[in-house]
Amino acid sequence: MSLIKQIEKLREKALDELEGADDAREIETWRICYLGKKSELNDILRSLPRLPLNKRKDVGAAANRLKKELEESLGQREQAIGQKQIESAGEARLDVSLPGRSLPIGRLHPVTQVIDEMSQIFVSMGFQVLEGPEVEWDYYNFEALNIPKEHPARDTMATLWVDYETGDGDRQMLMRTHTSPMQIRVMENKKPPLRVVVPGKVYRYEATDATHIPMFYQIEGFAVDKDITMADLKGVLYEFSRRFFGRDRKVRFRCDYFPFVEPGVEMAIECAVCKGGGCRLCIDSGWIEILGAGMIHPKVLERVNIDPEFYSGFAFGMGIERVPMLRYGIDDIRLFYSSDLRFLRQF
Ligand code: DAH
Repeated sequence: MSLIKQIEKLREKALDELEGADDAREIETWRICYLGKKSELNDILRSLPRLPLNKRKDVGAAANRLKKELEESLGQREQAIGQKQIESAGEARLDVSLPGRSLPIGRLHPVTQVIDEMSQIFVSMGFQVLEGPEVEWDYYNFEALNIPKEHPARDTMATLWVDYETGDGDRQMLMRTHTSPMQIRVMENKKPPLRVVVPGKVYRYEATDATHIPMFYQIEGFAVDKDITMADLKGVLYEFSRRFFGRDRKVRFRCDYFPFVEPGVEMAIECAVCKGGGCRLCIDSGWIEILGAGMIHPKVLERVNIDPEFYSGFAFGMGIERVPMLRYGIDDIRLFYSSDLRFLRQF
């Protein structure tokens, strides 16, 4: 093969391989192979002085041209690869001028919103907000509230009993069926004057339907001091109703029975749908019952060593879910706890 042909072939091979060199290391390997001291091209250049004069001129010119071309191509390839690296680094770089991606903002559960709103109203009337245990002793849930064993009032609250061996058969545990046990817990530890509200979960062993679920919320309220009368109870509940339901909603009190109050009452508000005329929601009565209340029974006060000769108190207990149901026309209580965001996002 003539030297000119060899140079031609070398050129093709070198340029071809340079195309495939993708990073600085591959390029350096290529440079050593084709432009280094021990490269084929260098051998040719070094052999020039030994060539016959007539060949030396052509081969020398071709070899030098190739050397120049390879050096230029190397420079171009190096630049192209450098550019590529800068571009890919740019993709990973943080552009602080870009607008941020906003996180979806959550919201409070409608029941939590109502609890907050109610608590706020009572706080503004001087009540303090406390919470109590959901797993409760029979003593606090029934016994101390004047509901002894065999009392028929126990049947009205289908109880979820908790299996717990205490050693003495009498101390039984249950899931509290109402928030009233907190009356006892608070009065055991603090002396009057007392003004307390207790929001929280309560449990009943009941079949689920549109108006019943085994766990729901109540808010308990009570005040104990010298000279507390039924007028104080009515004043506080009227004020609550005005602030929560609005000035125009009528309020009705009727006699009712609860073992831990005497006298006991039930409070109803005018039906928002029919304005007292009678409709399906209020079962044609025009009224919707929202809470039970009364003057704390002397026996209950005695049990916590508060002398009923000197002190008296009122108490009330209200279901919470009914309130947003009435306010927003929600006809199925289960919606609150089905975790359906389409429902929850509306509040
Ligand atoms: N605890 C009762 C219930 O769950 C409601 C209640 C009625 C609470 C009268 C009271 C009250 O504090 O005085 O049905």
